[in-house]
Amino acid sequence: MSRPYSISSAPSDWPGFMELTVRRKARGFVSEHIWRQWEVGSLVEASGPHGNFYFEPLRDSRQIVAIAGGSGVTPFRSIIREIAAGKLDLELLLLYGSRFADSIIFAAELEALAAKAPQKIRVVHVISDPPADWSGPKGFIDAALIREYASDLSGKSFFVCGPPEMYRFMQEQFARLGLPRRQVRWEVAGAVEDIASAPGFPAEVRGRIFQLHLRRRDAEYTIPAAAEESLLTALERAGLAPDSQCRSGECGFCRSLLTAGEVYVRPESDGRRAADRRLGFIHPCASYPLSDLSLTTP
Ligand code: FES
Repeated sequence: MSRPYSISSAPSDWPGFMELTVRRKARGFVSEHIWRQWEVGSLVEASGPHGNFYFEPLRDSRQIVAIAGGSGVTPFRSIIREIAAGKLDLELLLLYGSRFADSIIFAAELEALAAKAPQKIRVVHVISDPPADWSGPKGFIDAALIREYASDLSGKSFFVCGPPEMYRFMQEQFARLGLPRRQVRWEVAGAVEDIASAPGFPAEVRGRIFQLHLRRRDAEYTIPAAAEESLLTALERAGLAPDSQCRSGECGFCRSLLTAGEVYVRPESDGRRAADRRLGFIHPCASYPLSDLSLTTP
């Protein structure tokens, strides 16, 4: 298996050091494996870095509104460390949503970094299930809260990183604020945890196992593919996976040709070009079988 993680250390921590922050998830078999099996000295094969979720001076404003949910704080911790180290000249407001006040990741470190450069870094915690004595903002990061803390939105760049439900919610809030799409960057979400709850996923295929006929180089295989697992996961289970990076349908590394059958692709994860869609190419990391399939992978 592979997984895309945001780098949570700062560029200036390099060379020789790079940090990932992996939250243990109840149903996540990669995070579970990491928590149980990894120890000091474990060897890990990594590629990259890849992706577009970073400050790009030609594209982004130097005034950033960062919106994080849960472990989605990791790329912002990286940027904030770089600002506090004096290596990146930005003003960053972090609106950070957590469920419980005592489960905020990097709480003490973020506070210390903001204290180091208070004119550049501001951190606001928003708690959806607050304790009785919580005096900060409660609930979700919505349009009113963004307006209250970020005030004038024009000319600011917005960066969002969090779980898929948060992305849907934030899209509604940004529409309410009339924020143009070009002002917003979304971190790719990685593998979807519960595809059956995605809008438009057909309930009748839940629990079904389909046959996947695979052509790969000069060989052919038939393997099982569960409706609620991505085709990339089915290929990985069989030891036949193509290269992958983002697992979010965006980078195109796993691009394959579907020659027969139907797949479900969550609209937010459909990063294919229009021509690819017409010609039958799919990204197995973001495609779920709705019937028996024939697929050609690189
Ligand atoms: S791994 Fe990026 S599109 Fe599939």
